[in-house]
Amino acid sequence: MAYRRLKFMKSFYITTAIDYANGKPHLGHAYEKVLTDVVARFRRLMGDEVYFLTGLDEHGQKVQQSAKALGIEPIELCDEAAVNFKALCASLNITNDDFIRTTEDRHKTVVCSILQKLFDQGDIYKAKYQGYYSKRAEQFLQEKDKDENGEWPAIFGEVEEITESNYFFKLSQHQDWLIDHINSNESFIFPRFRAKQVLGFLKDPINDLCISRPKERLEWGIPLPFDEDYVAYVWFDALLNYVSGAGYGTDDFEQRWPADFHVIGKDILVPPHSVYWPIMLKAAGIALPKSILAHGWWLKSGEKMSKSTGEVVDPLDLIEQFGSDAFRYFVTREMNVGQDSEFSLDQYMSRYNSDLANDLGNLLSRVLTMLGRGFDGVVPAPQIEEELEKEIWKDWDETRSKVVALYEGFQFHAGLERTFAFISSINRYAEQRAPWKLAKSDDPEDKKRLDTSLHLMAESLRLAVGLLDPVMPETTQKVYELLGYEPDANWQARLIRNDSLVGRKVGAKAILFPKPAAEAK
Ligand code: MSP
Repeated sequence: MAYRRLKFMKSFYITTAIDYANGKPHLGHAYEKVLTDVVARFRRLMGDEVYFLTGLDEHGQKVQQSAKALGIEPIELCDEAAVNFKALCASLNITNDDFIRTTEDRHKTVVCSILQKLFDQGDIYKAKYQGYYSKRAEQFLQEKDKDENGEWPAIFGEVEEITESNYFFKLSQHQDWLIDHINSNESFIFPRFRAKQVLGFLKDPINDLCISRPKERLEWGIPLPFDEDYVAYVWFDALLNYVSGAGYGTDDFEQRWPADFHVIGKDILVPPHSVYWPIMLKAAGIALPKSILAHGWWLKSGEKMSKSTGEVVDPLDLIEQFGSDAFRYFVTREMNVGQDSEFSLDQYMSRYNSDLANDLGNLLSRVLTMLGRGFDGVVPAPQIEEELEKEIWKDWDETRSKVVALYEGFQFHAGLERTFAFISSINRYAEQRAPWKLAKSDDPEDKKRLDTSLHLMAESLRLAVGLLDPVMPETTQKVYELLGYEPDANWQARLIRNDSLVGRKVGAKAILFPKPAAEAK
């Protein structure tokens, strides 16, 4: 019985976009993985069974061209990229369950079976196309794509006029239900203001989508099952990773699909994820994803950070210098999900120093040092509760429920802000209570206050790092270990004040966030 229940329990299925294989991972890619991982970890802590997929988008002209320029086969370039992107996931402590590559057979089989189904149903037809084509964007363009000066915007690179026969996927007949779906499902597109952008796009009639590329122009793709002279358009191929990676056609798929969240950047919301993808699914008889979460961009000097501008930040450098938790903290704390954020190293250093090294790091070393000095490292039982303590516990109860609610609404930056405000208030409490002075007093009441204050500081630190778990899992774990705490399997129970630390032996003073060498000079 238990087995049956488990087998049919729907997982919380979350995905990232799959990154292009022709570049090195940068801050933008790393951010998306961290954001998705924070949601995945949070859902697991809330008791969900989570399935988390990320991967690599390996076909298309850009990969073919980059490989050619390097004098290697496209698959060699992709293999190298897969090593780099998987290493990025490992360095960021990402808990993905699978990593899909679009050159894998399990993916190609699904793409072919869906293409064949759509073709057999009459949703795909062949027609002659005459018009403009952008190699860089790998898409056909229309007059309306020109800028106000009648020029092709630079993002399209070289635009050429071509005439060729291609296969088209019927989109136009799907416009009405898609508009209805977006209007009647508040949570389909998050943040909600982005839905307006999609509806704006859907105001004009949409053209059918060209889903093939002649092999003479592009070889590096999945051959169409019904015409070997063509390969599939890279977006049509890439979007299907979300179903192939969930085991489409197997029992696993039933347990995972529909996806709960596709986490993507705002640049690939309209039209690929909000128009092509739902229509592809509907036509193929597959349920729609529950939600698409479009995050903003990391900017450098006001511009989107991308390899084409050259203004990139290498996440691995930052992780090597400051550790993965600090990186995860910074990107989650700085970015209001959905908005853009300018990256600056100064701001990175300032968050690292003031929030992590000072507020959190100092609290931990205070607790460990004071317990080590006067208590043989053993956490005492609290003795009395005065106004100062009552205030802290009241603040904690509010903080806990507020932060969980903020995390549920993807307001991670605000949840962290609130958690660190609580940490600061414990530091303020330490200064007001001044246990180092109480330790010198002969008054028996002061002895009670001393025990109480050290217990409170240790206990409130235990509670606060519980809230950091989805974002800074290593730190949470380390602090638990240093406090001699064996975490309850139930996360919400861990966030409740109790006396589990009383009598525990804490570790020796430890520095979680050392000041970087340049600072120490
Ligand atoms: N391969 C496509 C996605 C196919 S999904 C079926 C693609 N790849 S990408 O490598 O260009 O981008 C991967 C993800 O990283 C996208 O969601 C994109 O928005 C995100 N980012 C790339 N640069 C970014 C920033 N500067 N800031 C934040 N995220 C951005 O698009």
